[in-house]
Amino acid sequence: MTTKPSSAPWADTPFKLIPTPSKRLADSHSYVYCATEMANAHNVIIRGLNAIIQQAPYVRDSNDPRYKAQDVKDLLFYVDAWTKMVNHHHAVEESFMFPDLKKFSGNPSLMDEAQHQHELFHDGLERLLAYCSTTKPEEYRWEGSGGMKEIIDSFSKHLTDHLYAEIDEFLNMKDLDDVGLRKTWDRAEDVAKQTGNIGMLYDVFPCVLGCADNTFEGGNAFPPLPWILPYLIKYWFAARNGAWRFNPSDWWGRPQPLAFIPK
Ligand SMILES: [Fe+2]
Repeated sequence: MTTKPSSAPWADTPFKLIPTPSKRLADSHSYVYCATEMANAHNVIIRGLNAIIQQAPYVRDSNDPRYKAQDVKDLLFYVDAWTKMVNHHHAVEESFMFPDLKKFSGNPSLMDEAQHQHELFHDGLERLLAYCSTTKPEEYRWEGSGGMKEIIDSFSKHLTDHLYAEIDEFLNMKDLDDVGLRKTWDRAEDVAKQTGNIGMLYDVFPCVLGCADNTFEGGNAFPPLPWILPYLIKYWFAARNGAWRFNPSDWWGRPQPLAFIPK
């Protein structure tokens, strides 16, 4: 459960969050650690998706006399950042984590199903990226043919089904070597950090921090980033960017009311 900031809808719906494996399994084997860290990362993605779905309908388009171009620009930037965050997560998995897991386990078909699931939502994410980068604020629409909702609806079920299923894959790794599995995980985490670039401090990292929830199910310390980062993001990289109004949490993972939901 999230410590919700109010009784208004929040980013824990419509797509449900993933229960934290370590809160349910009393097993020191590293498969629990890996499944938990992956669930934390996937919940960041799900909260971001939910925050978009909950708030975008209330951002007025140019048909509305109360239309504000800046709100639409900020929404497009936010959705673009969320999509880049999802792509980065899956790129690290496909380029490094899955091949490394196959090699370590000696099972060449391990994670094949997850890889196949990636293909089911890949094109939808690309369409969403293209929409965000090419749509002028006055052309933006949420509803209707060619609108942003239609694009998100085309892949959101495939994406979330995958995010749930991948946790089960890790929960099935209890027969693998405990230490070896943990090393594989740590190597993938290093790769995720190394493949990050300075540009991501302006889009992906503010999205990760603002979609975390450190109150979830009694609390967690996710994402595993230096303590200084939220300060740098708040006062420098994310400063003066209205897109972050769409984040469901503050820079320290504390849930906040969704800004665009009617009071
Ligand atoms: Fe994943």
